[in-house]
Amino acid sequence: MDENNRDRSSQSASLRYDDSPERFREGHPDKHFTGASGVLFEQAMAQTRMAICLCDPNQPDLPIVFANRAFRELTGYDEEEIVGRNCRFLQGPRTKKEPVDRMREAIANEDVVVVELLNYRKDGSTFWNALHLGPIYDDNDKLIYFFGSQWDVSDVRAAREEERHAREMARELSHRMKNMFAVISGIVNVTGRVRGVQEEAAEINARIQALGRAYETTLDEASSGSIEIGPAIHAILEPYKQDARILMKGSDLKVPFSIISMVGLILHELAANASKHGAWSGDVSGQVLVDWYASDKGDLLVEWKETGGPQLDGPPQELGAGSSILDRLLRTSSGTINREWNPSGLHSLITIPLQDG
Ligand SMILES: Cc1cc2nc3c(=O)[nH]c(=O)nc-3n(C[C@H](O)[C@H](O)[C@H](O)COP(=O)(O)O)c2cc1C
Repeated sequence: MDENNRDRSSQSASLRYDDSPERFREGHPDKHFTGASGVLFEQAMAQTRMAICLCDPNQPDLPIVFANRAFRELTGYDEEEIVGRNCRFLQGPRTKKEPVDRMREAIANEDVVVVELLNYRKDGSTFWNALHLGPIYDDNDKLIYFFGSQWDVSDVRAAREEERHAREMARELSHRMKNMFAVISGIVNVTGRVRGVQEEAAEINARIQALGRAYETTLDEASSGSIEIGPAIHAILEPYKQDARILMKGSDLKVPFSIISMVGLILHELAANASKHGAWSGDVSGQVLVDWYASDKGDLLVEWKETGGPQLDGPPQELGAGSSILDRLLRTSSGTINREWNPSGLHSLITIPLQDG
């Protein structure tokens, strides 16, 4: 038998041979613990991993009269250090008053109560105790015990705390990022004005703003390394949604965080083009359909389909600066863009590989 197996078998043997329920039963030869129910009590108490104790309300200061092995393991005390004491010996300087008050009140009213409070082990270390306590009556409705079950929820609390901290950090980061984008915008505007290139500055600014919106939705999820692409696409195209000439489809899809700036810039260029020359230009009431999904190969496909704009007569003579930015960006990630200049409008299919290599 290897070390691990021996450990496990001696552990389960010692659990089986927890004799404290048996001794308790022998010390309480009243009818509650005789016969089948007594045996059941004995076995259940010995086997459960949940800490359990019984306290006697008919003795002064509600002393513990029984605590199972799990209770002893949780608190680090031996049986003789537990039995005869009120459970408050588990409390310490940092235990909050409110749950203790609630327990005192519940006990006085013979109510059931569930509280979460900080308790102390024998070695001084602390744990968060999810405690359930309630009265037990005999056949004549006489209160004979209080039952308590203790569960260490320290890990759950730590996870909750971590989550809260992460949310706070995301909020702070979002705030700083907005500030940063505002500052960059300001710099671009002022430089544009001073150098007499306001139009170019405005164009650059629009790209920066689209990037900002793309990042904005991702902050909550950024720590996991992947993000939902749908909310990001919605945020990028938010300014174009006002007159309902955009139809967004798309599926629930998680993508690596690293592609978000590319998606932001690509959609911005397509939207800017649609406003200048395509479905959203002039008085024509054209529409754009945006769809996104994963290909069989696991690539991200983004479809951009314009209809109802000015009639097209083949590809334009010259693609603008935006298009060349877009092409260059895609090349860096082995992505592609396929443009079809249909008479009814531009139909683009963008492919972005999601896996490396
Ligand atoms: C069955 C039972 C189990 C209890 N278990 C705990 C426990 O695990 N931790 C704790 O801090 N208090 C526990 N208490 C509560 C304390 O014993 C005590 O009732 C509480 O501190 C309020 O009373 P006090 O203000 O007189 O201290 C338990 C009470 C009962 C009746």
